[in-house]
Formats: sequence, structure tokens, C-alpha cells
Amino acid sequence: MPILFSQRILVLCIPTALLLLFAFSALRAGSVSAPIKSLKDTAQSAGHSINENLCTDERPDFAQKTFANTVAALYKPIKLPVTAKTYTDQQGNRFDNGGNNWWQASLGSDILIVDIDTRNPNGTREMFNSQQKVNWYELQPHGGGMLSSSFVNHFLYAQIHGYDYKFYNAPEIDGHYSTWIKPRALNEMLHSYRFVVFIDADAILQHLEVPMEFLFNRWGISPNTSIGMPIDTRQEIFGPKTSMDSKGKVVLNTGVVIAQAMPHTFEMMNAWQTCTNESRYPGCGQWKLKWSHEQRAFSEYIRYDFNPDGNNIVEISCDDANGYPGLYGQATVIDNCRGQFVRHHTIDKSMAKDNVADVMMQSVSEILQKTFLKHEEQYFIKGATSN
Ligand SMILES: *[C@@H]1O[C@H](CO)[C@@H](O)[C@H](O)[C@H]1NC(C)=O
Ligand SMILES: *[C@@H]1O[C@H](CO)[C@@H](O)[C@H](O)[C@H]1NC(C)=O
Ligand SMILES: *[C@@H]1O[C@H](CO)[C@@H](O)[C@H](O)[C@H]1NC(C)=O
Repeated sequence: MPILFSQRILVLCIPTALLLLFAFSALRAGSVSAPIKSLKDTAQSAGHSINENLCTDERPDFAQKTFANTVAALYKPIKLPVTAKTYTDQQGNRFDNGGNNWWQASLGSDILIVDIDTRNPNGTREMFNSQQKVNWYELQPHGGGMLSSSFVNHFLYAQIHGYDYKFYNAPEIDGHYSTWIKPRALNEMLHSYRFVVFIDADAILQHLEVPMEFLFNRWGISPNTSIGMPIDTRQEIFGPKTSMDSKGKVVLNTGVVIAQAMPHTFEMMNAWQTCTNESRYPGCGQWKLKWSHEQRAFSEYIRYDFNPDGNNIVEISCDDANGYPGLYGQATVIDNCRGQFVRHHTIDKSMAKDNVADVMMQSVSEILQKTFLKHEEQYFIKGATSN
């Protein structure tokens, strides 16, 4: 009911507000020669207060598409404020904001959530197939099916918080393993955004209501941070050094990459992207095709060269942004990283799709629970005992 109600209000309000604004700005301008531009300017500056006073307690952003506003309104009852000091999950685990207060206002479309992939989920009944309805039940838990499901998670999350979203379908890079597209595409997108947040197709955001700003605070992503990445879950596939660089330091995992646009970041991205040409890093060429590719190149060279202040590159806790429940205990795995905020289903990719469904049902259930409890007297009948 509240949703339908607010949609109706919105439908009534927007044309009314625009009409008023048009008349108002035309009168004020004293000329009708440039009404469109002044209408846009006025709408942008007056949009908030008009909606606040006349319409709803929402603050629709006129720069955002209506779809995003609708999704954001649906999630409003459970959205964690960006200023929150703590977050408690559905198991009662409490997480703090790291005591950091750098991000106290929504960054909105300064943040891009991006999927970067050489694959395109446009196969039979997959998400980007324009000829057929997507079939969730029959989506394969790998390949284009998995990409379809992670798109649902990443795209929905961006709508809830007013972030931009893009799916970057990248061409392969000659002579390089597919994942080498990450630094190149990230670098490119970073020219249009303050923050680019890349999330792998097998990595799923666990709490749709928790904004990036809270996670940035929690993870130590400050205004000075160029790049943040989670520490890898250690495995011993080829002996104890499997997850380490040649200096014995555990590698960072490129399943989640947070990059902030700054001159230093661009230098770093360029060095990473061109690492294999060996003009700066002799030996880097071996990582073109050898595991773990761009991930190892970053940890082997870039992180030692581009962290002059010690906080330019931030290492995010493995338990927060890598691994998943059930990973620990498998023969080769020696860290219990559960992916509290981002689960990265590295060696059980088939778990990602079901996880997307669980995450979504969790959030919708919470919304419905809040709504039910708020209006319990309307929905709940306690039958009288008969005797
Ligand atoms: C799917 O995408 C690929 C690559 O982007 C393209 O070549 C192909 O034609 C598309 N297939 C369909 C059915 O749209
Ligand atoms: C960012 O860098 C500037 C200049 O070095 C410094 O004054 C400031 O304290 C730094 N801020 C943080 C949050 O690290
Ligand atoms: C190799 O990369 C460096 C940057 O690290 C760049 O300046 C140079 O032009 C590249 N060389 C070739 C041959 O592409």
C-alpha cells in the first residue's frame, strides 16, 4: 500500500511541479527565449524543496531515472544510513565503520559499480537476450547464467543507492589471459567517475541495504586512497607459497577493486596495465598467461611502487570481501574468509546464483517484515479461543 500510494503521489507531483516551475521560471526570466535551460536549472535547484513541501518525505533526485527512485523508495525502510556507526546483520553480527567518518554524505553517481567481462550474458534465456524473457530457474550457475545472476545483484545494488552502473563488455587482449582486461577497463572508466567499484561475476554483495560509503569508512578507503582490494584467501595448492608473491607477502585479490580518480591512481593504473611489456618491470611478461595473471602482477610489482604514504593502497580484510562460508575446510584452503560483505565464490562458482537469490529474498523479507510490524493491527487477527 505505501508503495502504490507514493507512486501515485509521484505521478501527480512531477507534472504539477514541472508545470509550476515552467510558469514560474518563464515569468521570472522576463523572456521566453531560453525557457528550457532555465527550466532545467530551476528544476535542479528547486526540485528538492518542492518535493519536500508538496509531495512526499522522499527527496527524489531529478538527475536520477525514475526506475532508480522507485527501487530506492522500496528499499528505504531498511537502507543503512551512510552516517551509520555500526551495522548488524541477520545473524546478529555487529560490524563497525572502523571509526572513520570520511564519507558522511551519499556519493551517488560519483560512484560507478561496474561489471567487466569478455563474456556477454545474452545466450538462451539469459539476461541480455533481447528476444527472450530471462528464465531465472533455468539460468546455468556458470558462464552467461552466472553473469545474469550477478548482474541482478550488482545492478539492483546500484539502483538502491543511486550509484551508476555499467556492464563493460571488453574485447580480449592479444596474448593475455582474459582477466587482463580489468586494469585496462578500470583505467578507462575512472576517467569519468570519482570512484569505480569493480566486482567479479562470481562475487556477490551480501547486504543490499549497506551503502558503499559505510564500507569505505569501514575499510579505510580515505580521500587519499588510490586503490583498495581484499587480501586473498590463502590456499596451499602448489605448496605454502600459492597465495604469496615472491617476497612472501599474501597477494591481493582482484575480485573486488575500488579505485579513486587521482593523478597517482592513473600513474598506477598505467603501470599495471602495461606491466607485461616489461619496459618498467622485467619479468612481468610471464604473468600474461600464467596464473594469477593481472592479480599477481599487481601484488608482485605495483603495490611496492605505488604506496608512498602507506595508505595509497588499502588492503581490505579477507573475511569482509573475499571467500564464502564453506570455503574454509576444503583441502587446500587455510583461511576462514566468509565474505561478510562480498562473497567471492572462487572455487565454487555454482554457489553464486543461489546466493543472489538468498540475498534478494533476505532484503525483501526484511522490507515486508518492517511493513507488517508497522501495521500489524491491519494484517494480524488473533482468533478467539473457543470453549
Ligand atoms: C551476444 O553478444 C555477442 C558478443 O557481444 C554477439 O556477438 C552476439 O551476436 C550476441 N548474440 C545475441 C543472440 O544477441
Ligand atoms: C591525506 O593527505 C594529506 C596530504 O598528505 C594529509 O594532510 C591528510 O591528513 C591525509 N588524509 C588522510 C585521511 O589520510
Ligand atoms: C610499455 O609501457 C610503458 C609504461 O610502463 C610505456 O611508456 C611504453 O610506451 C610501453 N612500451 C611499449 C612498447 O608498448
